[in-house]
Amino acid sequence: MEIAEITSRNRAYWEAIAPGRTGEPVDFFRAGGCALDDRELAAIGDVTGQRTLHLACSVGDEDLSLARLGAADVVGVDISPTHLATGRAKAAELGLRVDLREGDLTALDPALTGFDLILISGGGLCWVPDLDAWAGSVAARLVPGGRLVISEHHPLWEVLSVRGAGQLEVTGDYLDPYRAGYPDPRKAPQVTWGRTEPLPDHASFVWSLGRVVSALLGAGLAIRSLDEYAQPELYDGLGPAATALPAAYLLVAERP
Ligand SMILES: C[S@@+](CC[C@H](N)C(=O)[O-])C[C@H]1O[C@@H](n2cnc3c(N)ncnc32)[C@H](O)[C@@H]1O
Repeated sequence: MEIAEITSRNRAYWEAIAPGRTGEPVDFFRAGGCALDDRELAAIGDVTGQRTLHLACSVGDEDLSLARLGAADVVGVDISPTHLATGRAKAAELGLRVDLREGDLTALDPALTGFDLILISGGGLCWVPDLDAWAGSVAARLVPGGRLVISEHHPLWEVLSVRGAGQLEVTGDYLDPYRAGYPDPRKAPQVTWGRTEPLPDHASFVWSLGRVVSALLGAGLAIRSLDEYAQPELYDGLGPAATALPAAYLLVAERP
């Protein structure tokens, strides 16, 4: 299937579920809440005065947080107009200046360039069908010394399904990224759990750590760190072994 066709179907999928995904309420931010966790904040560092680009930004919660942290120019790109409208409404209520714009992370506007920080997180990277092309596109949009931060679900978690205490089933292919739908519905966006109405066909890509690292190196980026983390709640029902498996990773790469 052509990339444009995959992306068009994925857009229909996200638009179908976007009305139920609103992210953190405005009061969360008013109370000083931040959508970036401590590990992400440490990886991102000081963004004061920086120009940031967040890919697959959804409702823009991380962008609102970056603006709050002092970033000067905050751009978020997502394919779903409904998500973006939700984010823009929150930004307006909070009086924060963020540019949440419709776009496809496989075909970004050439004008989007000169960033100090590019972020993709929490289920964004799996919508990239051609990782090498994407890595090249991202590297070219960073200023020298600019950083790419990937904070993602771990690909091992993506292919393992809990079947009971101490029991896992391999329900995906770690070595073949293409994934039609979600073989394990618990890997799908939470808003779809228990939903019975059919949703548009969609396809995503489970990129192994090896493929991610190779794509970034191939694009001329330097890998500064790569850390893997447990998130026991994502292996719900597995028992103590849930702390012995990675569920997330955080990678920082830099344009030399
Ligand atoms: C799971 S969310 C990730 C963002 C955020 N961490 C969250 O949990 O809402 C995935 C986002 O990717 C967007 N998306 C999917 N395909 C895309 C594409 N080709 N270009 C840009 N955004 C895309 C969807 O609209 C959705 O907002």
